[in-house]
Amino acid sequence: MISFLHSSAVNGINAYLIDVEVDISSGLPVFSIVGLPDTAVKESRDRVVAAIKNSGFDFPAKKITVNLAPADIKKEGGLFDLPIAIGILVSSGYVEKKSVHKICAIGELSLDGKLRPVKGLLPIVLSLKKFGIKKVIIPEGNKNEASVAKDIEIYPFSTLSEVVKFLKNEIQVLPFKADNTIDTDNQILPSIDFSDIKGQFLAKRGAEVASAGGHNMIMIGPPGSGKTMIAKRIPTILPSMSFEESVETTKIWSVSGLIQAGESLVKQRPFRSPHHTTSSIALIGGGSYPKPGEVSLAHNGVLFLDELTEFRRDVLEVLRQPLEDKIVTVSRAKSTLSFPASFMLIASMNPCQCGHYGDANKECTCNQYQITKYRSKISGPLMDRIDIQIEVPALKIDEITADKTIAETSDVIKQRVIKARNIQYERFKDKNIYCNAQMGPKEIKKYCVLDDKAKDLLKNAIEKLGFSARAYDRILKVARTIADLAESETITSTHIAEAIKYRSLDK
Ligand SMILES: Nc1ncnc2c1ncn2[C@@H]1O[C@H](COP(=O)(O)OP(=O)(O)O)[C@@H](O)[C@H]1O
Ligand SMILES: [Mg+2]
Ligand SMILES: [Zn+2]
Repeated sequence: MISFLHSSAVNGINAYLIDVEVDISSGLPVFSIVGLPDTAVKESRDRVVAAIKNSGFDFPAKKITVNLAPADIKKEGGLFDLPIAIGILVSSGYVEKKSVHKICAIGELSLDGKLRPVKGLLPIVLSLKKFGIKKVIIPEGNKNEASVAKDIEIYPFSTLSEVVKFLKNEIQVLPFKADNTIDTDNQILPSIDFSDIKGQFLAKRGAEVASAGGHNMIMIGPPGSGKTMIAKRIPTILPSMSFEESVETTKIWSVSGLIQAGESLVKQRPFRSPHHTTSSIALIGGGSYPKPGEVSLAHNGVLFLDELTEFRRDVLEVLRQPLEDKIVTVSRAKSTLSFPASFMLIASMNPCQCGHYGDANKECTCNQYQITKYRSKISGPLMDRIDIQIEVPALKIDEITADKTIAETSDVIKQRVIKARNIQYERFKDKNIYCNAQMGPKEIKKYCVLDDKAKDLLKNAIEKLGFSARAYDRILKVARTIADLAESETITSTHIAEAIKYRSLDK
């Protein structure tokens, strides 16, 4: 007898409907699976046989053929165990055929018949309605993640035998529901705050401007000056994620297997800080079953590259494409796949090889040639995509210990950031632009209007300090954000003067 049910697979972050057909006929006992890669077939077959037997059913000693269609979609093995096992139980008469009509089943089985959670469940459940599916059977461990999908009935189970009882109507189960709204007023506050940072007003202000306009930022300073501390606090001043942003980010985390049982949506903006020994695949994504890289895990949040000069040059160069396009394209043998990658790049570096150039506490031992060579580790085209460059000098130890003033909290700064962002949403309403950092030459011309004093100041700075044409555009964009923070329509000389300060590496 032949049986049909549905399952699904993800490729990138897109889900596809997979039809699972199981045919059992008389003949020598052979169990074959068509449509899965060879290694996955063997593993899946072994798990399905053991799980069926250990759940108390007879495994049919007949010719069993499983077809997973369409064949040309590359599938990872695990999640088809459950639909294959159910199909076999239907074809061998344990379960009625009509009870699996229009049902989708997903889950990896362990040898004793338990259902294990799988990766990529969120993009799958969000697509099922589109495929005409109304009910989905999933592992218990994935239920919170799956509950984000509102238009589908979700039935989570822990074992194969429970699934069978449910399909045979021997137990009554209500679809699982959970409240996934994002309560922006009631988010769990992170334990870190901008008020932890003493002094460093320029760097803190730079972080505020960067957050307000979505600008990338690099901090240059000796070890121990607080660069890492500042970077880690940037998510605390960014506006909270919207529900849509949260779902987008969660899909990426889901296919990477980063959603733990019990968790549903990623609600805080991501902060990813890959180590400098990271490979280019780990950074931008890829592999034979392409997985998102750090740039995509940081989608809608912050990618922090600490000690930027320590990263391999070829690794840094692959960053240019996602920085430009906000999306990563991973090429595969036959096709290309893409993952969203819209993040704020925050980087840190030492000013020189020894780390103490310009440090009031310790003398630099590098010569000019060494300093130039050290800085040239970051290519011009990469540096060009970083709008804000800030020097972070080391504080004297008593500046840290003796300073009893209470610095501004993240919450106060965040309110200003949100105000400035709202001005930008309004400004770019019908365009595909969300913040000043994303302006192209056309928008710069239209929206970066300077008053006369500001024009003179910028002209002088370009002549005296020798800024490049590219630096000129960057100064204008950052000045636009500074003016937005001040709720000023025109850009004044004060705004330009501050923006010029953020070009410390160009001087
Ligand atoms: N401005 C500051 N305010 C408070 N503590 C600071 C400051 N700068 C440095 N520190 C202290 O020094 C430590 C090292 O700072 P860190 O951010 O790691 O420096 P960097 O990344 O520049 O090398 C921090 O954990 C903190 O204890
Ligand atoms: Mg550091
Ligand atoms: Zn030095």
